[in-house]
Amino acid sequence: MDTKLSLLFLAIFFTLLALATPQVQQQSPAYLGFAFNATDLPSEDYYDYIVVGGGTAGCPLAATLSQNFRVLLLERGGIPYGNPNLMSQEGFLATLTETDYFESPAQGFTSEEGVPNARGRVLGGSSAINAGFYSRADPDFYKNSGLNWDLKVVNHSYEWVEKAIVFQPELQSWQSAVRDGLIEAGVDPYVGFTLNHSVGTKIGGTTFDRMGNRHSAADLLQYAKPLNLKVAVHASVERILVASSSFSKQSAIGVVYRDRIGRYHHAMVRDKGEVLLSAGALGTPQLLLLSGIGSRPYLSSWGIPVVHHSPYVGQYLYDNPRNGISIVPPMPLEHSLIQVVGITNSGAYLEAASNVIPFYSPARSIFIRTPAPPLHLTVATLMEKIAGPLSIGSLRLASTDVRTNPIVRFNYFSNPEDVERCINGTRKIGAVLRSRSMADFRFQEWYGGHNFRFVGPALPHDLSNDVELGQFCRRTVSTIWHYHGGCVSGKVVDHHFRVIGVDALRVVDGSVFPISPGTNPQATVLMMGRYVGLKILRERMK
Ligand SMILES: Cc1cc2nc3c(=O)[nH]c(=O)nc-3n(C[C@H](O)[C@H](O)[C@H](O)COP(=O)(O)OP(=O)(O)OC[C@H]3O[C@@H](n4cnc5c(N)ncnc54)[C@H](O)[C@@H]3O)c2cc1C
Ligand SMILES: *[C@@H]1O[C@H](CO)[C@@H](O)[C@H](O)[C@H]1NC(C)=O
Ligand SMILES: *[C@@H]1O[C@H](CO)[C@@H](O)[C@H](O)[C@H]1NC(C)=O
Ligand SMILES: *[C@@H]1O[C@H](CO)[C@@H](O)[C@H](O)[C@H]1NC(C)=O
Ligand SMILES: *[C@@H]1O[C@H](CO)[C@@H](O)[C@H](O)[C@H]1NC(C)=O
Repeated sequence: MDTKLSLLFLAIFFTLLALATPQVQQQSPAYLGFAFNATDLPSEDYYDYIVVGGGTAGCPLAATLSQNFRVLLLERGGIPYGNPNLMSQEGFLATLTETDYFESPAQGFTSEEGVPNARGRVLGGSSAINAGFYSRADPDFYKNSGLNWDLKVVNHSYEWVEKAIVFQPELQSWQSAVRDGLIEAGVDPYVGFTLNHSVGTKIGGTTFDRMGNRHSAADLLQYAKPLNLKVAVHASVERILVASSSFSKQSAIGVVYRDRIGRYHHAMVRDKGEVLLSAGALGTPQLLLLSGIGSRPYLSSWGIPVVHHSPYVGQYLYDNPRNGISIVPPMPLEHSLIQVVGITNSGAYLEAASNVIPFYSPARSIFIRTPAPPLHLTVATLMEKIAGPLSIGSLRLASTDVRTNPIVRFNYFSNPEDVERCINGTRKIGAVLRSRSMADFRFQEWYGGHNFRFVGPALPHDLSNDVELGQFCRRTVSTIWHYHGGCVSGKVVDHHFRVIGVDALRVVDGSVFPISPGTNPQATVLMMGRYVGLKILRERMK
């Protein structure tokens, strides 16, 4: 019900935003000279490495491998440059609401719980549609993710990403007030600006620059060696080709992909080469299943020939539930996505955003033909998410057509500890709202009181009542889009990112995470693309 309500609000925002699309055009940077439409590629070709998915991990991975090897990067979506909504901070919501048509850069899906969600379908992947907040993983992540991280290479890889696409945000009124409110509410210490994960109140990095222009994984292709890299867009990979080697061990030998006009292409790997899956937490398990790598009885129920029995493909999928409030403040506010965060010791993580919605009065546009300046409506949001959800979900196929989203169930709050963390986080939101820093955002009522004007549900009145807060958590759950898992390390891949039981095949994206990075995931996923690229280069040197 509340989900439907927020969808309705989004739909209204979108209608208004569509009337106010920014006019800036951005050209593709020169380094994208190596990008082709899949239609222009030969029907068969050979490479050392084939990277499936030009997303957050796929772009840095392909750029790194191209230093020494011939690489093909296959992306089902198009190029982000030139799309004004996609390329600007202001366009965030508009991009997210244009999820219905076949080629929209954000592909919408709704989990079985009824929570609307999105996945990137464009070069840069979800890093090209996200909210831009950038923070390195919680140090515990390297110890507990089962991936044998070499921390020196991890740090080097983060720096490589950061010098190209990460900026320090400039706080304006809403983010500054949230920072002060978090400190007043006891989310301490205050650590200021840092890219490190750190308990307390901090300002993180952002992939939007000072002009509000987006930078994404696609920009990391500037590091590639152009002669060695071919990027194919509108290339939808349908199947991984696997052959039995002499020892009856299975080995990936290439992929089949389809271009925009429906023609099939084969891309094959050369001796010692590999197929690297970076299609994301939904795309990678889906593609493995469609290629016959998954649970034997499950694949048989779809009539998919079993290549390798791997029972956990599509299992252990997680999403961080989000809850919070939105208000309309008494004064106009600037646009801001996530910049200030409050990291508590009790499993909750607070974030804030403010969205300016240009509002063209319908009456005015009917009666006055000349363009009138828009009115502006701001919605300010304060939210909390669970940093590392324990509730376990899964995905299954909806169709054997790769373009159809798999069916996803996250089982939000099925683990009682997640409910407890949400209760703690919601109580913190209440404490921030009651802080002095938030006083300016209340309206003065005719009788002299001061109240917030909520858009959508308000917090329960009695913040000491765990039962009411728990109900609020379940009733108003939405997503912060940090879903991960589906091909987790230790179950589907080993600690070198290799698919267990199939040679020459690795997974390099958020689907290998058996736990959340403890913060918003893009920094960790970007780093991982570079990291695995360096690891493979090193292995080949031996
Ligand atoms: C709306 C939104 C806001 C977010 N905000 C933040 C934030 O502020 N900070 C943060 O840290 N994180 C944020 N995230 C999360 C973060 O962006 C993702 O966790 C991360 O980008 C996932 O990376 P990935 O490599 O696993 O997948 P993706 O980046 O999604 O890459 C997968 C790529 O593979 C392609 N692909 C899939 N299947 C195929 C196929 N069969 N053939 C060819 N190509 C295929 C897709 O088109 C896509 O480009 C947000 C996510 C969303 C959706
Ligand atoms: C791909 O094809 C479309 C038209 O189908 C064209 O507009 C676009 O410029 C092409 N892109 C590239 C990278 O060649
Ligand atoms: C990596 O960086 C972190 C944070 O900057 C630092 O604490 C750690 O010591 C570094 N590790 C190595 C091995 O360089
Ligand atoms: C991260 O923390 C380390 C100390 O552990 C510090 O040296 C480094 O400057 C910090 N990096 C950023 C970007 O804040
Ligand atoms: C929630 O907060 C209470 C009180 O601060 C704390 O005792 C409890 O451990 C927290 N719950 C979780 C799951 O962290």
